[in-house]
Amino acid sequence: MSSEQPTEAPAGGSLADRITAVDGSKPAENVEPAGDNGQTDGAAAQQGGSDLHEPDYTVEVKLSDLQADPNNPLFSVKNFEDLGLDPRILQGLSAMNFRKPSKIQERALPLLLHNPPKNLVGQSQSGTGKTAAFVLNVLSRLDLTTEQGQKTPQALMLAPTRELARQIVGVIQVMGQFLDNLMIGTAVPADSNARPAKLECSVVVGTPGTVMDMIKRRILVANKLKVLVLDEADNMLDQQGLGDQCIRVKSLLPKDIQIVLFSATFPDHVHNYATKFAPGANEITLQHEELTVEGIKQLYLDCSDEEDKYRTLVQLYGLLTVGSSIIFVKTRASAQEIEKRMVVEGHTVASLTGGIEGSQRDAVIDQFRAGQAKVLITTNVLARGIDVSTVSMVINYDIPEIHQPGARERQADFQTYLHRIGRTGRFGRVGVSISFVSNREEWNMLNQIQQYFSTSIQRIDTKDWDEVEDIIKKTIKNTRAQAQFGK
Ligand SMILES: Nc1ncnc2c1ncn2[C@@H]1O[C@H](COP(=O)(O)OP(=O)(O)OP(=O)(O)O)[C@@H](O)[C@H]1O
Ligand SMILES: [Mg+2]
Repeated sequence: MSSEQPTEAPAGGSLADRITAVDGSKPAENVEPAGDNGQTDGAAAQQGGSDLHEPDYTVEVKLSDLQADPNNPLFSVKNFEDLGLDPRILQGLSAMNFRKPSKIQERALPLLLHNPPKNLVGQSQSGTGKTAAFVLNVLSRLDLTTEQGQKTPQALMLAPTRELARQIVGVIQVMGQFLDNLMIGTAVPADSNARPAKLECSVVVGTPGTVMDMIKRRILVANKLKVLVLDEADNMLDQQGLGDQCIRVKSLLPKDIQIVLFSATFPDHVHNYATKFAPGANEITLQHEELTVEGIKQLYLDCSDEEDKYRTLVQLYGLLTVGSSIIFVKTRASAQEIEKRMVVEGHTVASLTGGIEGSQRDAVIDQFRAGQAKVLITTNVLARGIDVSTVSMVINYDIPEIHQPGARERQADFQTYLHRIGRTGRFGRVGVSISFVSNREEWNMLNQIQQYFSTSIQRIDTKDWDEVEDIIKKTIKNTRAQAQFGK
């Protein structure tokens, strides 16, 4: 496990690879869980801050316009300076080019920073800056004046995957770059040949299983912790393995610790539980009808069967030049299969699933962030939290489903749909999501999704590929224009 000093971070992005023809085998079924399941740490500063460069179309999204519209989740009437933050933290924010707080930051920060500390359950749309809200609270609460304070964990942040944990480390590094002696530890599974060392740092970010293990082995000292943050909290508390682990971790922490839960989604059954996990919490919540992000244009297209999905994918990439894109599939096996077939065709694609070892996962995501691979094929493991500003298209190759043993009908996974499409359209940028529908059941699931979010998912006709190209390009441009004028 590493302790790191803050560093500056690169931003990635550029033109998409083209992808072409294929043979025809069927993907096997073996659904990928949404949680983390393995591997080493090796955090890196990956954040591009609020760099608004898009590779393909030179569009400057005018954030100040967006932030002036009270209905926009990026809205703000205040400045960071009014929130009583440490000047060195303000310096970090300005180095990141953060000019004004977003709505969630503006609302959450006074509640979070208040003394005596109170718990918080915070919800806001994808890409609206929840990370900065909880990182600012953590940085503000650290006492770095003594060597002991610098080397003893005071804040613990848990995330469902190693990629998200590493990303959060990157944000802390950049935001905290002017805080002397800030050391950050990453607690994610080690490669099988590595031996984790004691974490001597003031902030720890990790996945629950590894954190639990490190506390038990006393290489993570927990008795001075003041803040516990759960990012993607509904997922952390809902999912069997992760939920149990989070509860066990919490039971090993000081009783008066401030508990902070953040997510874009808090389905009812988890919300009730979340308020028990974080007793007496202040709450910032949204109705599910308010959750979709305006800048993300949602589309779908019909395919006749599994093989046709692949042909369609190939067609789509053959005609489109997008920034970076993510293709979400149901199983590790189909991720592998699609990757293999594309590589045979000579394309540079990256694929990341829970099946590969940690250091390799790190290499894949870093390659994608840096724009060395423009297409990332993945499962639900990367559905949440991942922030890569250049992603302008998300493909739901398979519609996300909830797996209920014995259920008669297939059931759409609303939360995962929202998180997946939220990998594009980050902080006022625009993007397109395209869901593939290959039978009646899937069409029904897509309909359920539309109803649940009170949103409209528009069909694109694949009979005429020129038209498809036209529609998608126009969509990206129009949506961009809209976002620009803050509508
Ligand atoms: N006040 C701000 N000004 C400018 N950019 C910001 C601001 N706050 C956050 N951002 C940028 O917005 C992007 C999205 O932020 P973040 O990843 O925290 O979103 P999120 O709310 O956690 O989304 P998700 O629900 O998908 O996890 C990041 O690239 C971040 O740097
Ligand atoms: Mg997030």
